Amino acid sequence: MSLSSHEHPHGVKTVIVPAAGMGTRFLPATKTVPKELLPVVDTPGIELIAEEAAALGASRMAVIVAPNKQEVMRHFGQFPNLVETLSERGKDEQVAKVQRANQLIQPVAVEQAKPLGLGHAVGLAESVLDDDEDVVAVMLPDDLVMPFGVLEKMARVRAELGGSVLCAVNVSPEEVSNYGVFDVEEIAADSDLPAARVKRVVGMVEKPDVDDAPSTLVATGRYLLDRAIFDALKRITPGKGGEIQLTDAIELMITEGHPVHIVVHEGKRHDLGNPAGYIPACVDFGLSHPTYGPALRKAITEILAEHDAAEHDAGEAVRTTS
Ligand code: G1P
Repeated sequence: MSLSSHEHPHGVKTVIVPAAGMGTRFLPATKTVPKELLPVVDTPGIELIAEEAAALGASRMAVIVAPNKQEVMRHFGQFPNLVETLSERGKDEQVAKVQRANQLIQPVAVEQAKPLGLGHAVGLAESVLDDDEDVVAVMLPDDLVMPFGVLEKMARVRAELGGSVLCAVNVSPEEVSNYGVFDVEEIAADSDLPAARVKRVVGMVEKPDVDDAPSTLVATGRYLLDRAIFDALKRITPGKGGEIQLTDAIELMITEGHPVHIVVHEGKRHDLGNPAGYIPACVDFGLSHPTYGPALRKAITEILAEHDAAEHDAGEAVRTTS
């Protein structure tokens, strides 16, 4: 029998993971492999998300998938033949790796027939919630927010201030147009919460022009949302890019007086959604990996030296011919 939401450490039973995107920035790989299954060293990004969700204490992961992207769910299957073969060969470590995803969390597929936007995707997950769930987490699998644990901090802020809590990072002004951007004010001075890291949100706008951005604090893939979000999502119209935007539903809730706060994340963040962010993530995880780290460090040092030498030679060639 499944646990009630109150039996979950932070009251969060369900984590919603939108994974229906086409992965256009990762073509040609994403013709056949969903980007959520691309490995960071050896583990698909979606398994890292499941690990973070399980660490929060959630027991259900509602994965929003496109009709042709069921492979994402297969990763959370049981693989009895593979387990049997590996076990017979005494490969216990590999057996554990095969079984891990399945044991982390209960995955539930929710199909999004058409790519109508992040808000639309999140709204579909309402169908899998139990009546006693008054809060859900949304985790965007493109974003790795490290070290893990920011959702727990967000849950503590919600416990104290109520409402919804989002994760923010500070970016440079040129970058704001890629994100949902927060308009914030300070929290009460007598609060026990760290004022430098927790702010009250008074407005939120999706991918504004640089000149219209209210701040450089932007949403980064971790949301702890009151169940009221589903009602708000039903009442908004298509926004930026003609899509139903999660940002617009949050903005609607703010205008109606729902408390929204951010936790400003001061650690690292990787964007697995495109090669420019995915490659550094692999390098970062690779360097920390007990097996591969030392050899990778050596290889990277050599590769850098080669590239530096080639650049130096090219510069010399330009100088001698001019
Ligand atoms: C989405 C959200 C945006 C948020 C971003 C974080 O945008 O719409 O508000 O800042 O994720 O990664 P996307 O990156 O899907 O375009």
